[in-house]
Amino acid sequence: MTTVLISGANRGIGLELARQYAADGADVIAGVRDPGAADALKAVAGVEVHALDVSEETQVRTFRQEVGDRPVDILIANAGVFGAHQAMGGFDFEDWLRTYSVNSLGPVRLAQAFLPNLKAGIDKKLLAITSTLGSTSTTAGDMLAYRGSKAALNNVWAGLAASLKDEGLTFLLLHPGWVKTDMGGAGAQITPEQSVDGLRARIAEAGPAQSGKLFAYDGKPLPW
Ligand SMILES: NC(=O)c1ccc[n+]([C@@H]2O[C@H](COP(=O)([O-])OP(=O)(O)OC[C@H]3O[C@@H](n4cnc5c(N)ncnc54)[C@H](OP(=O)(O)O)[C@@H]3O)[C@@H](O)[C@H]2O)c1
Repeated sequence: MTTVLISGANRGIGLELARQYAADGADVIAGVRDPGAADALKAVAGVEVHALDVSEETQVRTFRQEVGDRPVDILIANAGVFGAHQAMGGFDFEDWLRTYSVNSLGPVRLAQAFLPNLKAGIDKKLLAITSTLGSTSTTAGDMLAYRGSKAALNNVWAGLAASLKDEGLTFLLLHPGWVKTDMGGAGAQITPEQSVDGLRARIAEAGPAQSGKLFAYDGKPLPW
């Protein structure tokens, strides 16, 4: 049976990932900031819920201890924040650093903690949910903390793919589309179900040949 570990699984895209993988028969290990408030997730059969704030290294370590040495086939670093809207003259550097800690370092904290579990798994896939806003070639003058955090994530995830290329691991970066979630808003283009259908297809078809690459949920390669 496939074991899938997902961060930020209590709502939005993470919750739909947990639902679809569990419905497919996978064992889902879910990390959420507040397990006491994760009712929708706890209602999904086949999901194990743990406390996890990806910006807190000690919580990532505790989560790893709770999971133990079990093999993990697929790790999905999904948890993310948008950060405050800010512009030159009003940059909130504390918020900016928090955004980087969650979006850029959170996935790397998880990858480092769970690397032995991934190596012991069959699929050996590490997915980071990024955004097209992190592509430097699409740079605009807005949402700079978010854009910068995802650009850093893209660069580091591709770097991990390169530095660990002989380990049989697949490090993939996936943009979920513009999705109707709390982050994407009601005016977004696609539902979480449509996004996750696509994300799961991309994850299923990916292998070491795709490691370090950047795709949208519908399979289109994205510019860096
Ligand atoms: N929606 C879009 O259109 C869109 C587009 C491009 C990329 N993305 C990316 O897709 C991913 C999921 O986004 P979404 O739309 O599902 O957003 P969302 O509805 O706002 O959900 C965000 C999730 O991340 C969790 N999270 C936030 N900070 C965390 C932390 N420090 N530790 C652990 N979990 C934390 C949240 O938990 P709490 O409930 O505790 O806050 C929540 O479960 C993010 O990485 C986002 O950047 C989304």
